[in-house]
Amino acid sequence: MPSSINAIIDHYSAQVDAQLDAILPPATGAAEQLFAAMRYSVFNGGKRLRPALCFAAADAVAESDANSAKVAAALEMIHAYSLIHDDLPAMDNDDLRRGKPTCHIQFDEATAILAGDGLQSLAFQQLTELETLPAPLVVELIAMLSRLGGCAGMVTGQAIDLAATGTALELEQLKEMHAHKTGALIEASVLMGATATGQASKEQLNALSEFARAIGLAFQIQDDILDVESSTEQLGKQQGSDASNGKSTYTSILGLERARREATELFDHSIQALQCFGEKADPLRAIAGFIVQRNH
Ligand code: IPE
Ligand code: IPE
Ligand code: MG
Ligand code: MG
Ligand code: MG
Repeated sequence: MPSSINAIIDHYSAQVDAQLDAILPPATGAAEQLFAAMRYSVFNGGKRLRPALCFAAADAVAESDANSAKVAAALEMIHAYSLIHDDLPAMDNDDLRRGKPTCHIQFDEATAILAGDGLQSLAFQQLTELETLPAPLVVELIAMLSRLGGCAGMVTGQAIDLAATGTALELEQLKEMHAHKTGALIEASVLMGATATGQASKEQLNALSEFARAIGLAFQIQDDILDVESSTEQLGKQQGSDASNGKSTYTSILGLERARREATELFDHSIQALQCFGEKADPLRAIAGFIVQRNH
């Protein structure tokens, strides 16, 4: 296992990218445009943080393997679908994602909607292909992804985000929104990675859940900070795109300085939660550090 964060992420990314390439249909045939849009949105420079968390959680309890790569691919496809839909005109109406045209700009809106639909079902198909795991474990993984990626997690978070647009949220409401919108899929990444080894104890899963909740919130705080910094520093705008869209964010409620401090405290908390794993959780610790220090 490499020790620098970039090498760790590259090491895990190579494995999930190969798996994604294997499961995504080639961009040919009658639905060529759809498959091209799905591939475009999956292979356009994502950091692969959720896959990295999935592999690293597996490595913390046992050893990551081919099943980890399938689970990681499923998580990344749910993430990619959520971003395609998040960028649509009816939602955040963004033209750029990862510095490139968003899916609906590169293709068209209808194709972008279908690309999200296709990625979502392909994610669950991928989990049904965990042939070497006992069926009850596969069912448990499907249950986790459907819950945390859906109505008990990401989709509900997006709905809270839309409902709250234009209103000022209290800090507790904002945390609740973030826990669903971004935190849930991050928690799913860690818990599913560990669960797919078939060797995670209840205590280990509890510790990983605590780690994931802290780092998941820190992740979204950093996303809010970057939204302000990238708009104001690089584009010379007065405010970030969240503020222009009438969104309550960590920075709008707490200001930049307190938001940064909060992210650091959550990082410390996440590291404490990993104590019981010893060195085996070093990749998870490195990824947590990257999450709060990243600049993109
Ligand atoms: C961005 O997530 C969107 C949120 C959920 C806040 P990432 O920063 O992980 O996106 P990519 O995949 O690396 O572009
Ligand atoms: C996106 O949150 C969260 C999901 C897609 C679940 P944001 O709307 O803040 O993400 P960015 O800033 O567009 O990446
Ligand atoms: Mg959004
Ligand atoms: Mg957005
Ligand atoms: Mg954002």
